[in-house]
Amino acid sequence: MAKKDIDWNNLGFGYVKTDKRYVSNFKDGAWDDGALIDDDMITISECACVLQYAQTVFEGLKAYTTEDGRVVCFRPDLNASRLADSASRLEMPVFPEDRFVDAIAKVVEANIDYVPPYGSGATLYIRPYMFGSDAIIGVKPANEYQFRVFTTPVGPYFKGGAKPITIRVSDFDRAAPHGTGHIKAGLNYAMSLHAIVDAHQKGFDENVYLDAASRTKIEETGGANLIFITKDGKFVTPKSNSILPSITRRSLEVVAKDYLGMEVEEREVYLDEVKDFAECGLCGTAAVISPVGKIVDHGKEICFPSGMEQMGPKTKELYDTLTGIQMGRIEAPEGWIKVI
Ligand code: PLP
Ligand code: COI
Repeated sequence: MAKKDIDWNNLGFGYVKTDKRYVSNFKDGAWDDGALIDDDMITISECACVLQYAQTVFEGLKAYTTEDGRVVCFRPDLNASRLADSASRLEMPVFPEDRFVDAIAKVVEANIDYVPPYGSGATLYIRPYMFGSDAIIGVKPANEYQFRVFTTPVGPYFKGGAKPITIRVSDFDRAAPHGTGHIKAGLNYAMSLHAIVDAHQKGFDENVYLDAASRTKIEETGGANLIFITKDGKFVTPKSNSILPSITRRSLEVVAKDYLGMEVEEREVYLDEVKDFAECGLCGTAAVISPVGKIVDHGKEICFPSGMEQMGPKTKELYDTLTGIQMGRIEAPEGWIKVI
């Protein structure tokens, strides 16, 4: 087997069609056996519930080539259980969690030549998703569903890789207090599209959303959770029922505490106190850890002492340890690494 002829070092975060995808259909109350297929196109009813009422949920994880040449995934069992939570919230059937992990392994294996080489800075992004596929016109859940997993090789989510980014406090809300912010549903991203286009037009890399009820607390960005480092080296991350429970963030809490001996606080974080932190970063599968140099709140600049040139020192330690675990340079906690 030979790796595909791709310029791995210069990949951005975009879609590249790979050879195989996994598909399983739900009909008459049961999932079929599922299979790897070649066809990247989907044909569904013009009235499919996903097209009318956005009944769709998804996940995102990556396959990595380790230093010793294995291909591994990072905590796919957590993606399986989060997809189950997302599906239940939108009245969709759950795709069995063991079958989810098995499907991920099958798709990565079938596209192994697209897994970027160790040291290239690229990874194979894996996108599992599920949608209501039969015709629904009155507002109610679909009867039939498709679960699908495709892969695409990707580089850094933000241009410039590890260079600090500038984010702005958004005037739009992302999630209502008892809404769907805690699940990974397409609808949460549809409503963020206007805000991200507007942010980009004004020269910002991302939006940071506040809690919709009081607009005083930091929630998360459109595609990542936030982490902060205090001046005395504590790890602080916002706690909220309306943010996505990021697997990267939950893993970083363990890395900070058990690997780096940091104190970890998951708590409400007020916009007012952000000026007092020493470092800030976005964390997520796509974002990995992207350092934030500046948060702009309606023209008022909050500049972190770590600056706009490089990651802050604690953020760098977190980044090096997390990616070291993912790429096999550092021993992982039990159960974190799934070898393909
Ligand atoms: N928050 C949002 C809104 C996201 O879309 C993502 C991406 O998956 C995350 C956080 C990070 O989650 P994870 O670390 O599980 O990828
Ligand atoms: C991920 O990090 O996997 C995501 O789904 C974020 C998305 C905005 C690309």
